[in-house]
Amino acid sequence: MTAYANQEKADQRPFSPKEETMITRKHLLAGFTATILLGVSSAAMAQTTLRIFTGGQQRPDVMRKIADEYERRTPGIKVEVEVGGATSEQQQQYLNTVMASKDSALDVVLIDVIRPAQYAATGWAETLDSYLGAERDAVMARYLPAYREANIVGGKVIALPYFADAQFLYYRKDLLEKHGLQPPKTWDELKAGAEKVMKAEGNPNLSGFQTAGAPIEGTVCTYLVPMWGAGGGLTDAQGKLALGAEAAKRPFQLWADLRAANVTPSNLAEIPTDRIRQNFQAGNLIFGMTWGYVWNRAQGDPDSLVKDKVGVVPLPGFSANAAATCIGGWQVMVSAFSKNKAEAYKFVRYLSSPEVAKAQAIAASHLPVFAEVYTDPDVLKANPWFKDALPVVQTARSRPVTPAYPRVSEVIRTNMNAFLAGSKTADAALADMNRDLSPIFR
Ligand code: GLC
Repeated sequence: MTAYANQEKADQRPFSPKEETMITRKHLLAGFTATILLGVSSAAMAQTTLRIFTGGQQRPDVMRKIADEYERRTPGIKVEVEVGGATSEQQQQYLNTVMASKDSALDVVLIDVIRPAQYAATGWAETLDSYLGAERDAVMARYLPAYREANIVGGKVIALPYFADAQFLYYRKDLLEKHGLQPPKTWDELKAGAEKVMKAEGNPNLSGFQTAGAPIEGTVCTYLVPMWGAGGGLTDAQGKLALGAEAAKRPFQLWADLRAANVTPSNLAEIPTDRIRQNFQAGNLIFGMTWGYVWNRAQGDPDSLVKDKVGVVPLPGFSANAAATCIGGWQVMVSAFSKNKAEAYKFVRYLSSPEVAKAQAIAASHLPVFAEVYTDPDVLKANPWFKDALPVVQTARSRPVTPAYPRVSEVIRTNMNAFLAGSKTADAALADMNRDLSPIFR
């Protein structure tokens, strides 16, 4: 087993299926007791069990609490939370099998923001327009535009947004202050700052900067962010592949430069998204390029060594105020094969409400999909950096929208990874990307 595969196993540990079943059982028991107290025989009540699939990184513990609240409010509904896959593309590999076999076991599925086009093309999503009815446009108008647009494919509502996301620069506030540094606005400042702190601290475990480098979904953004930041785009205005330009080479140059300065570790090619968080929480990282959920874990996990030592700002750019970032986020979809579609839809509406957006923001630092939740005082108390986060989410760029996204992702992430691992030159990686993406974007 490779180091990366081992790490993937470790990443799943906090949310093992056994623990999840225990949580579910405990809550079911609590619900059962409440039913008896109310003097209602459970046998007399018609019961529907909804099963929702979520990923280990999307805080299944918080989903469980939200589901508990929904059960309390909705007599006759029980919710089971199924957890799988440490990374976005691993979750999707599992879901591809479940959905392709038209399995009715799942009623609601959490999907990454890059997936609605694929779900629309395969027919795996129950389109929600008729359920939304006359309210459709008013409901959709409340979401941040990027999420409204991502979830409407070919005029049909494929899913509803659960939480927003974008990549930010996490930094060690205490170390930057100690060494008289401001959070960097450019990649050059980041490099110089990391070198200074690493030298002065003399701690061999302290790494300067990490972003995802393993052959996983997050590594697509490791390529796209500096490419966009250099003024490039994957495709031109006609949707044709446009990777030939100078900007397409900049990510390779940037990551090679940070490696040469020893600012990134030699094993960057083995680092998946959640490992950045683990390294940061262990106190072993100065700067990390990563997503919203990390704040809550770094502040709240009992084993975090960096509580109250964390800062979050927009990513640096090649020049100041020229940063780009990837938009992320997760949607809730009703399975086309569910036997409980009407009830599943109602649960999806609840999950995609401002109330749940607020609860998630506080319990998990999940960025809201409603603009007004960013200024909620309770949300800001839990996440002071949200006061500057909305413009970042609003200007974040989308990974390509296409039903062929799984292939697009594979081509970009495996080439970026091969370069970081030292097994391909930048020219070879770029040539292979051009060869394999041009049949898709032509
Ligand atoms: C975060 C983002 C998601 C992205 C993933 C990559 O979960 O929300 O959109 O694909 O990270 O690791």
